[in-house]
Amino acid sequence: MESVALALPPNVSVAPDLEGISQAAAEFWVRSAGQATGRRGRFTVALAGGSTPGRLYELLGEQPWRSRVDWSKWYVFWGDERLVAPTDPNSNFLLAQEKLLARVSIPAVQIYRAPTELGDPDLAAARYEQVIRDVLGPRAGEVPRFDLILQGLGRDGHTASLFPGFPSLEEQGRLVVGSPPGALPPAVPRVTFTLPLINAARAVVFLAAGVDKAEVLRRVLDGDLALPAARVRPADGRVQWFVDAAAASGLG
Ligand code: 6PG
Repeated sequence: MESVALALPPNVSVAPDLEGISQAAAEFWVRSAGQATGRRGRFTVALAGGSTPGRLYELLGEQPWRSRVDWSKWYVFWGDERLVAPTDPNSNFLLAQEKLLARVSIPAVQIYRAPTELGDPDLAAARYEQVIRDVLGPRAGEVPRFDLILQGLGRDGHTASLFPGFPSLEEQGRLVVGSPPGALPPAVPRVTFTLPLINAARAVVFLAAGVDKAEVLRRVLDGDLALPAARVRPADGRVQWFVDAAAASGLG
């Protein structure tokens, strides 16, 4: 009997495990950075939090990827942040700082973490939006475009800190908003990119690993718009998924 290949969408790349998806994502990322730097002289990127991207961050700072990157051209932001101090173990900034940023030579002035010390999510969001507009450049009346935005996928279908049913999901004007905590830990307020900013990106990369993501991944790829991750559809950019075999086990 012939074996039947799983019919996966072309933008979904499956690897056996977290190591495999981290390597594949590192390769994609380094190519995107090279392309952006070649075309526009810099690479603007927004990082994610959660547990999944840690290994990817480590790999980017190791060979063979490390020396293929012109780190001086990177401008680094976060697609969402928990309203905690940058030294808090729950900080998305801290994860990337420890795993990658402290090990490579990106100029410190080109690393833009969300100003959580302002203590108020809406205020921090408004300030962060202004920084993004200032750095990414004035395109009057247009939404700034990141070269790459990294996203995770929550078991409830959230992405960044856009949670199912929350008003932040419907935001059309602001590019960054404050949010109350979602259903999943840590139960702290957030600052999050909104869909207009995410969907203006040149590329959005999703990482998902583990069998607890299988059901939600299937629904997202089926286009269940109740799930925030399914509403990530860049108008003039691409979405690329890197998922491990366990997360992909509900597909096909
Ligand atoms: C956050 C994240 C969030 C995360 C998902 C997946 O600040 O919590 O940015 O959107 O990416 O919850 O998290 P895991 O990688 O831990 O599953």
